Amino acid sequence: MRIDVYDSAADLADALAERVVRAIIAKPGINLGLPAGRTPIALYRAIVAASRVQDVDWSRVRTFNIDEFVVPASPAGSHDSRGPFERFIHRHLLDLVNVAPSNIESLNGQAPDLAAECDRYERAIVRAGGLDLLLLGIGANGHVGFNEPAASLHDRTHVATLAEATRHANAHLFGDDASVVPQQALTMGIGTIMDAREIVLVATGSEKAAAVTAMTTGLMAPQVPASMLQPHPNLTVILDRAAARR
Ligand code: GLP
Repeated sequence: MRIDVYDSAADLADALAERVVRAIIAKPGINLGLPAGRTPIALYRAIVAASRVQDVDWSRVRTFNIDEFVVPASPAGSHDSRGPFERFIHRHLLDLVNVAPSNIESLNGQAPDLAAECDRYERAIVRAGGLDLLLLGIGANGHVGFNEPAASLHDRTHVATLAEATRHANAHLFGDDASVVPQQALTMGIGTIMDAREIVLVATGSEKAAAVTAMTTGLMAPQVPASMLQPHPNLTVILDRAAARR
């Protein structure tokens, strides 16, 4: 794996945005995998800015969110049947570029049959030709997507039970109340992630330093799900100084 360290989170966002924009220009029909979480906010802001300055055409880009909470189905006729992560990615990125709504694929955490929804998602990724570029965050406990530390990990998109620490880390999306963060989520599996042709994992801030060290210098272990990505042939870990401090 390649590790790039930037002086600040802002420098990192600008450099990575340029990389994403160049990838879209090189392959206008690119299939992107997109994370939610606080880390990508600055990145998405930089991608939107770079797309405007360079007049980047997103009309053929296809996007796949990496994970989504399992939430109760919205009442019939409700305007917004999007899940929390889907809304988040729309607000910070997809509503601000000219991506075609029909090219946005999302995991539906309100699906009546969650296992069938996971299978549908795997098929949708394959039908699209696979993920070209997958952007990933990392949890402070080493999770990627919602693949939590465990004795063994799921290969494919599945229903995950969230660790207590992960529910706390996501409370900001639920009125800062960890008690109402869903217990379950849907997530691409480690195999789904490994199948992406290129992975860029981003971590900023000192609270990610331990997970970054475990992922990059430790043995591969399911207790550190991100470490399972080590054998990927095209993996870049992008850090600010705080996340790289160890
Ligand atoms: C969350 C999500 C991940 C995200 C990670 C880091 O729980 N499941 O997709 O990458 O944890 O989140 P953040 O960037 O807010 O630290």
